[in-house]
Amino acid sequence: MTTIPVTVVGAGIIGETHADAVLRHTRLRVAAVVDPDAAARDALAARVADAGHPAPERFADLAGGALVPGGLVTVCTPTGLHVEVAERALEAGAHVLVEKPLDTAPRIARRLADRADAFAARGLVASVVSQHRFDPASVAVAAAARAGGLGRLTSAVASVPWWRAQSYYDSAEWRGTWRLDGGGALMNQGVHTVDLLLWLLGTPVTVSAFTARLAHEGIEVEDVAVAVLRFASGALATLHATTAGHPGIGVRLQVHGTAGSAVIHDDQLEFLNATAGPAPVERAADAVPAGELRGAAKPDDSFVQGHLRQYDDVVAAIDGGRPPGVGLHDGLLAVATVYAVYASAALGRPVAFDDVLRGALDDVVEVTR
Ligand SMILES: NC(=O)c1ccc[n+]([C@@H]2O[C@H](COP(=O)([O-])OP(=O)(O)OC[C@H]3O[C@@H](n4cnc5c(N)ncnc54)[C@H](O)[C@@H]3O)[C@@H](O)[C@H]2O)c1
Repeated sequence: MTTIPVTVVGAGIIGETHADAVLRHTRLRVAAVVDPDAAARDALAARVADAGHPAPERFADLAGGALVPGGLVTVCTPTGLHVEVAERALEAGAHVLVEKPLDTAPRIARRLADRADAFAARGLVASVVSQHRFDPASVAVAAAARAGGLGRLTSAVASVPWWRAQSYYDSAEWRGTWRLDGGGALMNQGVHTVDLLLWLLGTPVTVSAFTARLAHEGIEVEDVAVAVLRFASGALATLHATTAGHPGIGVRLQVHGTAGSAVIHDDQLEFLNATAGPAPVERAADAVPAGELRGAAKPDDSFVQGHLRQYDDVVAAIDGGRPPGVGLHDGLLAVATVYAVYASAALGRPVAFDDVLRGALDDVVEVTR
């Protein structure tokens, strides 16, 4: 089988992870690197060559051959450029894997998600990074929930209790801005967990939230967000995300139902008891390999492995002509949920998720910018 040429757009921190994952994938090769910052694109190209692979072409922008029909474009720019880059790639006939979050606000994310069916009809795969959906712990919990093993899902508790020093926000101009980061602890760091919550519990109906900026200077966005969500199923959830929790501890997601409960801690399975359905699970150890249980030592390359798993899914979608595991609409729902938190905090009242999705609250957060 031929390899699929990959263009990495954005040669920063996560661009490096993507290149590393692509280099390890037998069906993919890094064909091109795009970044207006010459030092960044040269460094990433050198990393590929140093690993013993052909040096990729280097481009300052998307013009001049960076986008190849049938190739895969991976969008690793600051968040506020994701949709713009992905649109151009898809319009040029390339498949796309966009880093999370899909973009900074539902207004912009919707622009791409609304065209998802049209892109799919042209045989193009468009996926949004949410690598933790592919973690064995997440897969085991989702499988148990989908098989009815947890019974009726009744509630969830999600917490992203992290620490980011001021130097993190000072490290690049786009960090901590509404225009290019789209939000703070919840949009940037917490969106992974928001996506998992929606994947397991479905679509929110009502969101009520507070946000605050308590531990950082010179940023426009929140470093603490807390929210309660009511889902269409009736299930309730609490959501907490912060970059102001020194020293930072593991992300935790608890899901509870009438026939079982599950806990994922720091991407590993802590607890799973699913008593209903065709394949009941008594213990976490029955559902995942020992290395995926809470407390097991993680391999040094566990972060790249997450992206590699998502690349496996994207390649299978391209080869099999099937939708990817995480589509543009999923990306929109996660961004819209984060935005609903911001809108509720700004308005000082609960907001209807449907109002966010259909654009009725599009101007609320901009008012605070
Ligand atoms: N999936 C994850 O776990 C994960 C982790 C970290 C970051 N991210 C996401 O990846 C994105 C980038 O984050 P980062 O930490 O790598 O940022 P970064 O600042 O390290 O890198 C961004 C790069 O994009 C380049 N760039 C800017 N404008 C560009 C343009 N028009 N075309 C091409 N390149 C351009 C910059 O020069 C820079 O090299 C963000 O959206 C972030 O949310 C995802």
